[in-house]
Amino acid sequence: MKNRIIVFLLSALLLAAGCSGTVSNQTVPESKTKPQCNNPLEGISMADVEPDIFTLQLGIAVQGTVDYHNFDSVAVLVNKQNKLADDYVPADLVETDIPFPSYVAREQRLMRKEAAQNLASLFAEAKKNGLILYGLSGYRSYQTQKAIFNNNVRKYGDETKANRISARPGESEHQTGLAMDVTSQSVAYSLVTDFANTAEYAWLKDNAHHFGFVIRYPQEKEIITGYMFEPWHLRYVGKDLATILYEKNITYEEYLFFPI
Ligand code: DAL
Ligand code: ZN
Repeated sequence: MKNRIIVFLLSALLLAAGCSGTVSNQTVPESKTKPQCNNPLEGISMADVEPDIFTLQLGIAVQGTVDYHNFDSVAVLVNKQNKLADDYVPADLVETDIPFPSYVAREQRLMRKEAAQNLASLFAEAKKNGLILYGLSGYRSYQTQKAIFNNNVRKYGDETKANRISARPGESEHQTGLAMDVTSQSVAYSLVTDFANTAEYAWLKDNAHHFGFVIRYPQEKEIITGYMFEPWHLRYVGKDLATILYEKNITYEEYLFFPI
């Protein structure tokens, strides 16, 4: 018997008109270490943008053998439905051997060892292709994420709006030590959706999976991931899984829960 049952409810899937088409110059509050990263959506008003109605409920995984509930697995699923404990800290954090702007705090240079090693290899391969990438924000403690999220709530006026671009504490992949926000000189070392128009991103999106990384929050997938397009947010899931997600052009949630 095929005992893999998918139970999910997609309701009210309306993305507010204009949402996906109006964010091309959006800057986003990933890092609190530098004004340009700390001043998200400068010049962009979210006041006129209706919040996404994110009501995806995930059922039993189609891919039943994936270790997505194990916090210590590189395949751990962290999203709005799957949270980390406030005291969860990965055991094997190391400093990532990639370039960072000088102002990036030590905590945010950390990643889990396997992810750090593969990100260094990814950046080295990019460099061979004449593309210089920089890290901006890797590991974040629960407390750091809480401060970032609260800052965004103050900035945007309510939690729903803030939560389209910033995870609540316990719901951020950055707490796993498996994510890194990356940038380039061509976008002034900031986190902006214009990064998607750079040569660095063009290379990254087709090569990150060779090193086990995926672009975790792709364009047009907000109703699935719960977050707006973040071309800078790389998540390490391991080479096999990253290659499947890349080749099928699907998010991790789609892979786990949708019978594709
Ligand atoms: N911006 C991503 C969703 C985070 O805050 O983890
Ligand atoms: Zn990120």
